[in-house]
Amino acid sequence: MELKLITTPAAEIQADSLVAICFKDGATLPALPAAAASLIAESIAAGEFDPKPLETMLVHRPEGLAARRLLVCGAGEKDKLTPALARKIAGTALRALKPLKHRTVAFSLAAELATPDSIEAIACGALLADFETDRLKTDEKLREKHIDTVLVSVPEITPALEAAFAKGQIVATAQNFTRHLVNEPSNLMTPPKMAEHARAIAAENGLKIDILDEPRLRQLGCGALLGVAQGSIQPPCLIHLEYVPETSADSSVHLALVGKGVTFDTGGVSIKPSDGMEKMKYDMAGAASVLGAMIAIAQLKPAVRVSAFAPCVENMVSNNAQRPGDIVRTLSGKTVEVLNTDAEGRLILADALTYAIRHCGATHLVDAATLTGAVVVALGHIHAGLFVNNDGLKDSILAAAKTAGESFWQLPLDDDYNDYLKSPAADLPNIGGRWGGAVTAAKFIEAFAESKPWAHLDIAGTAWLEEDKPFLAKGPSGLPVRTFVELALAFGRR
Ligand code: BES
Ligand code: ZN
Ligand code: ZN
Repeated sequence: MELKLITTPAAEIQADSLVAICFKDGATLPALPAAAASLIAESIAAGEFDPKPLETMLVHRPEGLAARRLLVCGAGEKDKLTPALARKIAGTALRALKPLKHRTVAFSLAAELATPDSIEAIACGALLADFETDRLKTDEKLREKHIDTVLVSVPEITPALEAAFAKGQIVATAQNFTRHLVNEPSNLMTPPKMAEHARAIAAENGLKIDILDEPRLRQLGCGALLGVAQGSIQPPCLIHLEYVPETSADSSVHLALVGKGVTFDTGGVSIKPSDGMEKMKYDMAGAASVLGAMIAIAQLKPAVRVSAFAPCVENMVSNNAQRPGDIVRTLSGKTVEVLNTDAEGRLILADALTYAIRHCGATHLVDAATLTGAVVVALGHIHAGLFVNNDGLKDSILAAAKTAGESFWQLPLDDDYNDYLKSPAADLPNIGGRWGGAVTAAKFIEAFAESKPWAHLDIAGTAWLEEDKPFLAKGPSGLPVRTFVELALAFGRR
């Protein structure tokens, strides 16, 4: 799908459909010819169309328009139209028109909507909405539903609008790449396959890359990561992608994005129930999100050094799998008693954090991980959990998330929870007790952050959408790619 910025007036745009945003009072953007406007007013009065957000109405052969169809999209109250809502409306329009086999779809933004924020959101929303999860279905009919061109008309093309239009596409393309990785089944998305994707990203975007293979991980002493990986025939790796800016706002800052990359989580010997186990292909969503974010960061070029670290392993059951009670030595030197082999994400993250800090000089760290079922119990599928040891970093992440339209809810990290993390035989156990599972998991990781500003995003409940939305296919959400990108951009402005 290609997106184009144009200046053709709404009524003259040649397209299969023109999208108009309609507010509660029936007013539209763009303003429409009298016939179409009165048709909309009539439909609202008759109760056939409710112009609230994410409602749509298709009008055939709209009088006075060059487009074949008019799609009226509800937007609610005018003063509540934020870029986040514009993103959803653009996506809703696209997903309403795609099954109708419209090839060219046009948005026309009157002056009020032709702002950089709105343009970015619309470009982003349209591309995100175009993503499907049916790549491996062989029914050719499915491929007939595609939109080729999205035209976005504005009164005047300015450099600021062009840049915002490009940014929306860069971010959405990166997020869709992440969604693709997460959507792939685990037989096709193994740790070596993740490494292959990372190499391609580096080559295409001019990033530095280092992939630590098993012998190097052993030589370094990443005993926690290797312990998780040892039950699988798939060799583990630790991917390190690095973006070095031409000029840096503060050259002492090195932001590290760290993502859990468990390409399949059986639970290991502490095996998971088979019901729903297929979902554990998305246990690498954190790793996929840091790889995707690096694509956008490489293209948007913030003035800050940023690295992505993605420890990738498969957590299997086998003759050689790690056992409950095994004690492993982490790269930090701390020993861990593996009381439950299903609490594997924190083990690989521990070694990745130590590597980022001690071997690569990371100064600020943010990890994303599908870490606990407990965070899903606490927050459902609405917010991701945010754990953070530093107020400045907390503010930066929440501000980035707000701009990105992704949502996080802060959960506690008080030291009182350390009472839940006691092992008689090692420095730490890898699980706490029955309660507060999302917090004890975060406390465990915090022990490896060496008092650097660090945040942990538990995305177990938000990395995978259980239901279709009008503007997004169900499946991988691509969270928190947009927050990572906004965070890096904000760090570059400091
Ligand atoms: N990958 C899972 C967490 C998860 C659960 C992700 C649901 C997505 C959806 C993680 O490795 C895990 O199994 N965690 C255990 C920890 C427990 C053994 C302390 C859990 O949450 O049950
Ligand atoms: Zn697990
Ligand atoms: Zn897991």
